[in-house]
Amino acid sequence: MTTHTPRIFSGVKPSGGLTLGNYLGAIKRFVDMQGPQFETIYCVVDLHAITVWQDPAELTDATREVAAGYLAAGIDPSQSILFNQSQVSAHAELAWLFNCVARVGWMNRMTQFKDKAGKNAEKVSLGLYAYPSLMAADILLYHATHVPVGEDQKQHVELTRDIASKFNHDFKAEDFFPMPEPIIEGPATRVMNLRDGSKKMSKSGESDMERINMTDTADTIAKKFKKAKTDPEPLPETLDGLKDRPEARNLVDIYAGLSEVTPEQVIAEFAGAGWGKFKPALADLAVAKLGPISEEMARLMNDKGEIDRILGEGADKADAIAQPILDRAYDITGFLRSRKR
Ligand code: TYM
Repeated sequence: MTTHTPRIFSGVKPSGGLTLGNYLGAIKRFVDMQGPQFETIYCVVDLHAITVWQDPAELTDATREVAAGYLAAGIDPSQSILFNQSQVSAHAELAWLFNCVARVGWMNRMTQFKDKAGKNAEKVSLGLYAYPSLMAADILLYHATHVPVGEDQKQHVELTRDIASKFNHDFKAEDFFPMPEPIIEGPATRVMNLRDGSKKMSKSGESDMERINMTDTADTIAKKFKKAKTDPEPLPETLDGLKDRPEARNLVDIYAGLSEVTPEQVIAEFAGAGWGKFKPALADLAVAKLGPISEEMARLMNDKGEIDRILGEGADKADAIAQPILDRAYDITGFLRSRKR
């Protein structure tokens, strides 16, 4: 077994703006995991973004915006490697090997593909279908051991384990790829749509009122929470009382995620309160937490050179880890090394 400091890899797609779901389910947790106990590698996964159409100029902007979101939230380039995926070509190369390891039947089970493709499965890109093997390459290229993600990515990390284990087994390369663990922790691993508690909050939802964007102004945040769907009941005495109240539960979870307490503690504080009290408290909390981040994002977006420099330096560091692992994967596969490097 490869032994090194436990290594974290995770990524966010630059397809549209960042949401509160991305922040609470991913980016905030990435920040919290920085420190001596882990080596941390965070990526703007631009190759993943083009699995659905992206306007080229918007892709460039969105890539910088996700990088700005990471930095403004507290990712520190002196502690973490921060880069954009397309600059390290080993991702695409290892993904091809994995396309030849993963089975079509495995891909057919991916619920996110089914959701995204819907009735249109014949018309979506081949990349959207193959996407989980690129995600497996992202993780395994660094021999990452831990992958913090939101709930919706769990199945993809499990598939990554299947790919690692089939590669190791087929090529008799025991333990070459480690089995990465998904880390899905905290109260907000599945932030729901503000207008429909049965749907995930996402960047691509139809109405902007469904989601909080990391760049929303204080007024917009207050308006969106005020209009968020709820029910007529006040907050219950215990968490159990939220069982069949998905919209109410979602707002409690968001409050817990933002204030770094458990949902039980939120209930203890607000038991019996009506929405007229809870929603403004939630809006104030969200503005207090997100305001400084969106201000810093705006500042960074005016300094594109600085963002590009940080991403470029991160890509050099990422490449230095990735290339030797890709070379070994090529050797294990039996590719002839005819060029001297
Ligand atoms: P993406 O870009 O859709 O989302 C980035 C991260 O945000 C989390 N997330 C949420 N968490 C809680 N509630 C929500 N409503 C919510 N919406 C999004 C996601 O779970 C994710 O952690 N395939 C990945 C990106 C990726 C990746 C990787 C992740 C590519 N390669 C390797 C980890 C490791 C994706 O599309 O995430």
